[in-house]
Amino acid sequence: MNTYDIIMKKRDGYILDKDEIVYMVDGYTNGEIPDYQMSAFLMAVFFQGMNHEETTMLTMAMADSGDRLDLSKINGIKVDKHSTGGVGDKTSLIVGPILASLGVPVAKMSGRGLGHTGGTIDKLEGIPGFCTSISEEDFIKQVNETGLAIVGQTANLAPADKKIYALRDVTATVDNVSLIAASIMSKKLAAGADAIVLDVKVGSGAFMKTLEDARLLAKTMVAIGTLAGKDTTAVITDMNEPLGNMVGNILEVEEAVLCLQGKGEKRLMEVSKVLAAYMVLAAKKAECYDDAMRLVDDAIASGKAYDKLKEFVRAQHGDVVYLDDMEKFDKATYSKVIKGKDLFDANTSIFDMQATDCKKAYLIACNNQEIGMTSLVLGGGRETKDSVIDLTVGIKLLAHLGDLIKEEDEVAILYGNDEEKINAAYKRFVHAYTLSLENVFNNQIIYEVITKNEI
Ligand code: URA
Repeated sequence: MNTYDIIMKKRDGYILDKDEIVYMVDGYTNGEIPDYQMSAFLMAVFFQGMNHEETTMLTMAMADSGDRLDLSKINGIKVDKHSTGGVGDKTSLIVGPILASLGVPVAKMSGRGLGHTGGTIDKLEGIPGFCTSISEEDFIKQVNETGLAIVGQTANLAPADKKIYALRDVTATVDNVSLIAASIMSKKLAAGADAIVLDVKVGSGAFMKTLEDARLLAKTMVAIGTLAGKDTTAVITDMNEPLGNMVGNILEVEEAVLCLQGKGEKRLMEVSKVLAAYMVLAAKKAECYDDAMRLVDDAIASGKAYDKLKEFVRAQHGDVVYLDDMEKFDKATYSKVIKGKDLFDANTSIFDMQATDCKKAYLIACNNQEIGMTSLVLGGGRETKDSVIDLTVGIKLLAHLGDLIKEEDEVAILYGNDEEKINAAYKRFVHAYTLSLENVFNNQIIYEVITKNEI
């Protein structure tokens, strides 16, 4: 077997067998296959695709490239959750405490943000003292004692994915269904949970731009999880605008606290509660979805979920005083309010037909990737793996898709520590929205749920 032949076989559209896939994954992970050959292989996969069997073999080879976490010492059904990546997505910070407060153990390994998407670990590091790196023994002990632990991914969890993901990121091979499915599911399988709930994002801020592609990704991941013996469910949710009102690390922690206090933005609350309800079902704590949702609502309304957040933060050495008094969090030095007029000035053409001085228009579409890039330009995201991010900066959205905006209305506030960066971010933000004199927006947030019965 040699690398050249395998690249050529995939380039020409043939199906690879298990030995060939394992050869590529192991060879690249241990340094025998160079970046340029793996890049060519990934591009061949990008164009020719992989069938379900090949994608499953790729996933298993990547999951087996390092350690598999043994969670057998944790009592109960362990349920993990993963999002395919989006803007303003802080649902892990919300669903983890809800589940733990209902007696479902959550032992979660999370990632950092890359590009325009945010990462749970960066957000948690916004809480002073919070430690995202603890030993495996302490991780397991904490889940048994408090029901929840969230730590950064250890270096030896699916190391093949780590290397391949970094290469995909610079070779335009990220947004391929088989490669995304194998990347996510290899980490989930190696992380050892019994059941997995996936949040597959679709829209302008997601890797999957169409419902058809998102459905294919969801079905592929549910099929892989099911084959691996894990109870797997995927919920397809909207990412055509940021989720919630806040984008930026500390800002998102603050918003997660508000959600757990029952005061969150409605779309964010809905996605979080639906994901939590499917996790409760997977943990067999409820007989049906409606009962699961009642438990989730009660966990929030009773304050148990918020109390659990504090218990979890305390266990990982975070200072919970900041959660009860969020004014204490470090804030950015500068802020800039964006008004309706700023968006109108950037989209002048829509008013050509309007014979009135009182300008008003609906927000009907958003280039959500650009909103993510606005946050990145402010300093809140990474351009490369090693970039240092500013946890205080970000965006507060005061309007959402479907809203009617007048000139004087405040649409958003940008927070930054550098006036030049704020000005650059402003330019991106005002061009990110499409305006219309008519409201044609359909504000759907949950599109579909894919269970093993659908595959
Ligand atoms: N998230 C991942 O972990 N991997 C991908 O390929 C895409 C999103």
